Amino acid sequence: MKPSILIVEDSSLEVMYLRELLTGLGYTVAGSFDSGEGAVEFCGKNRPDLILMDIMLKGRLDGVEAGKIINERYHIPVIYVTALTDGKVMERARITHAYGYLIKPFQERELHNTIEMALYNHAVTRKLLESEERYRTLVENINDVIFTVDKKGIMTYISPVSERMTGHKPEEIIGKSFVSFIHPEDLSRITKGFMESIAGRPASREFRILAADGRVVYVRTSGRLNYDDGMVSGLTSVMTDITDRKLAEEELSKAHNHIRYLLSSIHSIVIGVSTEDTITHWNPAAEKILGCEYANVIGRKVSETGIGWEWDVIFEGIAESIASDAPVHLDNVGITRCDGKERLLEMMVSPMKDDSGALYGFILWGRDITEKRMMERELAQARRLESIGQLAAGVAHEINTPMQYIYDNINYIKDEFEGFTAYFSDLQRLLTAASAAAPQMKEELLTAANNERVLDNIREIPRAIADSLHGAEHVTRIVRSMREFSHPGTTEKVSADINRLLESVITISRNEWKYTAEMVTDFDPELPAVVCNPGELNQAILNIIINAAHAIEDRGKTEGGKRGTITVSTKHGENIVEIIIGDTGPGIPPGIQDRIFDPFFTTKEAGRGTGQGLAIAHNIITKKHGGGISFRSTQGEGTTFSIKIPVSPAEG
Ligand SMILES: Nc1ncnc2c1ncn2[C@@H]1O[C@H](COP(=O)(O)OP(=O)(O)OP(=O)(O)O)[C@@H](O)[C@H]1O
Ligand SMILES: [Mg+2]
Repeated sequence: MKPSILIVEDSSLEVMYLRELLTGLGYTVAGSFDSGEGAVEFCGKNRPDLILMDIMLKGRLDGVEAGKIINERYHIPVIYVTALTDGKVMERARITHAYGYLIKPFQERELHNTIEMALYNHAVTRKLLESEERYRTLVENINDVIFTVDKKGIMTYISPVSERMTGHKPEEIIGKSFVSFIHPEDLSRITKGFMESIAGRPASREFRILAADGRVVYVRTSGRLNYDDGMVSGLTSVMTDITDRKLAEEELSKAHNHIRYLLSSIHSIVIGVSTEDTITHWNPAAEKILGCEYANVIGRKVSETGIGWEWDVIFEGIAESIASDAPVHLDNVGITRCDGKERLLEMMVSPMKDDSGALYGFILWGRDITEKRMMERELAQARRLESIGQLAAGVAHEINTPMQYIYDNINYIKDEFEGFTAYFSDLQRLLTAASAAAPQMKEELLTAANNERVLDNIREIPRAIADSLHGAEHVTRIVRSMREFSHPGTTEKVSADINRLLESVITISRNEWKYTAEMVTDFDPELPAVVCNPGELNQAILNIIINAAHAIEDRGKTEGGKRGTITVSTKHGENIVEIIIGDTGPGIPPGIQDRIFDPFFTTKEAGRGTGQGLAIAHNIITKKHGGGISFRSTQGEGTTFSIKIPVSPAEG
């Protein structure tokens, strides 16, 4: 399309001349006016591409004024045509952004060049303006603030949205140092950061600024350097409001801390496990009870923690909790701590699900119930012994009365039989003497005096009586042990003779050891009485004697049924009584010596041992009697336990 040109000229001759020239050069003449007002009005309706404007016009407006209005309102390029060379007018014309001047008279070529140059300049300027406009709209409409700052930190530009973000108007910011708006706590860090940026290391930074109303606004800036003649002149930066994100982060971190404090204040184990078996939570109670530090387990697979779990039990619980979508309670889960100690846990497995209901892990809650279970077993064992004791005491009582007269009668028979033997000897002597005096009855009398059957009986009966007495004494001893072993309901401490106590335990446990071992006792006759709970001490000693019997039995199995010896002896020191129980078993392997007192530690098959005997004995002797228990063991030779109990318990 041909460019259209408006002619504003008060001389009709000039108009004609220009029309001709312009048409000749291939332009369209949009029209012509002899006054500025007419031209302005025309431009409001039609937009010619260019105006050839004479400066001297008819009407109120001269060419410069009309050009100025048209340029400002309609952005149409104006070329001034004048015969004047008056500097003042030229100066005014320049101010209105004239696109060119033509001094009359001018050549056709000059006109052509000036028009083409003006059209070109105008097109370029328009593009520039458009692009600037585009950027301005962008800058002013994005939520992020764009600002520039000179190398001294003085704000040189800030986009208007800053008012929305900070409450400060751009004009209140521009010209001031950026430090005036920064939160005092971030000031030194950001000042240092600014120096680094200016020195050539611009970086993204987060800090707080103070809004006009005192609000704290969290922002992130990222800038690049501005250069002027190759020298750093300042920074252009984009500033984003990250307050919401920061506050959400703070909330989240508060929630995290909250959970952490909560978890660490719980005395139970709380462990988080992902569906990939990775440990995600491990609270201080888990560290303490399982003996594994947080740092060594977090992020690891459960199987890599070094803890021995009864995994089949836990997996079953996990499967059940998935199936039922509810927490599953597991009783008595055995674990081996990182240091090899055995513990018993009560556990709860709960599935963890996200908002959409997808499973992402499990919470394992656990409580150490080792001591609790041991106390329960100890009590159960004590009760069992007590009821056996009560039964035994009842039976013993029943046996005791008839036994008493059996014993008395045997003694009576023994005494009487001695008289009878003396009487029979006298009779024998008389018969022999009579046989000499009465020859006709000699044979008969001698046969009567030497009746072999009767004589045999007379010789055998005392042994039978002695055996019976021995047997009766034995029964009496057992009966007494049975009565002494049972201390129904004795929770209070009493003064007791430890030798007799040991004797009764040995008698009661005879069935445990008599097939495999001899029992040798060596009791200190001067042993002082000990203030103790005899029922509990019986329980402790019984456990140790049974262990000794088991040890000898085990050794016997590998050594062709060889019998062993259990030695029980007592000694005393100042205010102390020592009980020593030795066996000739295989000894305790060094590798397990520091674990034998642990609750539930056993090397015996199920049914023969539960691993509580020594734990119970230890508890009774140390905790309940303020004493001590130790042992010495040599592989292949045997084991000797030593129990030391104070004669009178410490006060308190
Ligand atoms: N005299 C001993 N000789 C060799 N090993 C022993 C002896 N006494 C104890 N032990 C070892 O110590 C372990 C723990 O003993 P403890 O009495 O606590 O439990 P247990 O005998 O296995 O079971 P429970 O006593 O509950 O029936 C035994 O399994 C055994 O390995
Ligand atoms: Mg035992």
